[in-house]
Amino acid sequence: MTQPLKIAIAGLGTVGVGVVKILENHKQMIADRTGRTIEIVAVSASNRGRDRGIDISGYDWSDNALDFAGRDDVEIVVELIGGSDGVAAALAQQSLSNGKSFVTANKALIAHHGTALAACAEENDVALRFEASVAGGIPIIKSIGEGLAANRINKVYGILNGTTNYMLTQMEATGKDYGEILEETKLLGYLEADPALDLDGIDAAHKLAILSSVAFGVKTSFDNVYMEGIRRIKLVDIEYARELGYRIKLLGISSLSKAGLEQRVHPCLVPKSAPIAIVDNGFNAVVVDGDPLERTFYEGRGAGEGPTASAVVADIIDIARGHRGPAFFVPVAAMTDA
Ligand SMILES: NC(=O)c1ccc[n+]([C@@H]2O[C@H](COP(=O)([O-])OP(=O)(O)OC[C@H]3O[C@@H](n4cnc5c(N)ncnc54)[C@H](OP(=O)(O)O)[C@@H]3O)[C@@H](O)[C@H]2O)c1
Repeated sequence: MTQPLKIAIAGLGTVGVGVVKILENHKQMIADRTGRTIEIVAVSASNRGRDRGIDISGYDWSDNALDFAGRDDVEIVVELIGGSDGVAAALAQQSLSNGKSFVTANKALIAHHGTALAACAEENDVALRFEASVAGGIPIIKSIGEGLAANRINKVYGILNGTTNYMLTQMEATGKDYGEILEETKLLGYLEADPALDLDGIDAAHKLAILSSVAFGVKTSFDNVYMEGIRRIKLVDIEYARELGYRIKLLGISSLSKAGLEQRVHPCLVPKSAPIAIVDNGFNAVVVDGDPLERTFYEGRGAGEGPTASAVVADIIDIARGHRGPAFFVPVAAMTDA
């Protein structure tokens, strides 16, 4: 077996802890699959003393995650902090520039800076991977970029935010109005620290911008996504929709036609007979329409420790196997303006 692949993990919250658990619990299985042992050498978070339910005493601790970008022994930096700018963006830029591959679950970062970071990865001949950033555990990025590589994609759409899907499902199931379900969802801890990310469709729009780039080879352009969230959905809307044979789902929709790229997130009436209509609660789903395959449908858990960490570790495994292809499956020079 070749040398261990050494990684550093910045951020030990929900996802970071999940990644540590998978890498430690499935160490031998992953080594058998990749031909390399994956070794966590260093970790970083805000509060060193916090009990995370895992043993981190065997890893170097760093108060400053940016140290990882300068460590000679680290081959992959894994960023699980969050935020489109600040430490996450600096860590991405510095790690890639210093010849380290970079894995992240951070949709805000990739939606805003994906193309620039992909260019930096190419210049330095390293990998940039972000499977966990869209639809959590559903391997939708690899499915489009690799499994559907022979297809011209016409349209990609889906339920990309589990929290709002949970809220809409619960309004219909319980007959409670938006305000009541919002309070319950807050108590369950399902909302982002900034609830606008969920409720106004921003989180779904981040994911849609990434999907557009993967599906159509366009430069990431979050600013071009039309956004409308679920704040104005009333119980009566859901009831009328049901009477007419529809359900209301917050969809992200991206399509490329002669008129150009259209990216939008808004509540939609979905026929009850459509597979996506029965995707409920925290689940996500993505539909891809391509030529010649036509429609394919993907469903799974869109968030949470296990599903998200599963996607992050899959990216690490991909790099351990030696895959270094372009982040959006086409070189940045071949990407078009959205
Ligand atoms: N949670 C999900 O289901 C999910 C799904 C898909 C994608 N994601 C994405 O995954 C990323 C992580 O999400 P999460 O839910 O794991 O977040 P989280 O639970 O809030 O964890 C964030 C972690 O970052 C650490 N941190 C904050 N500032 C830092 C800094 N300056 N340097 C180093 N560490 C710092 C925190 O430290 P302390 O623990 O000491 O406070 C914490 O461990 C985000 O980009 C998110 O959008 C999450």
